[in-house]
Amino acid sequence: MNINEIINKLKNELDEFRFRHSVNVMEVSAKLAKKYGTDIEKAKIAGILHDCGKNYKKEKAIEYIEKIGYEADPIELTHTPLLHGIIGQHIAQVEYGITDPEILSAIRWHTTGKAGMTTLEKIIYVADYIEPLRNFENIENMRRAAFENLDMCIVLCAESTIRYILNKGFLLHVKTVETRNHSLSVLRNSNEVIG
Ligand SMILES: [Fe+2]
Ligand SMILES: [Fe+2]
Repeated sequence: MNINEIINKLKNELDEFRFRHSVNVMEVSAKLAKKYGTDIEKAKIAGILHDCGKNYKKEKAIEYIEKIGYEADPIELTHTPLLHGIIGQHIAQVEYGITDPEILSAIRWHTTGKAGMTTLEKIIYVADYIEPLRNFENIENMRRAAFENLDMCIVLCAESTIRYILNKGFLLHVKTVETRNHSLSVLRNSNEVIG
């Protein structure tokens, strides 16, 4: 399936808002890939498909992950939106024929992030946050940081997620904390090198 075929198929699967968000994430991902010298085509495919698992909510999400043999942790089972990256990775493989492990992994990890992400994984994580339809407190700082230093942007995004989750009283996934800590450590180490 080429990118246009992927876009046409996805348009029939997602609601209008989610589809527009996905197109935006694809476009921002392509710009970031160009800026950071990584594969633009892979960034576009991962960007357009990152939320292809979004239609599976609550019981449907749990049913899906049981079917594919993924063992969710208690936080994922309580807060099922956390499962859409795992589901999306599987849908990208079986419905869109994606076999590239870098693309699949970027879809898999876009929600919580993880420590030590690849450049492509970081790009999708960040693009999901800063695309033009998004509006968070501090969003302009995140948009600026994205094109200066990906780890700096990841710290801002993860901290914003953590604040939101604490305010809402939701369970906080450990991967979100690890994502923030890892990028913060990378930043601190690089500052030490610079002096
Ligand atoms: Fe998502
Ligand atoms: Fe998204």
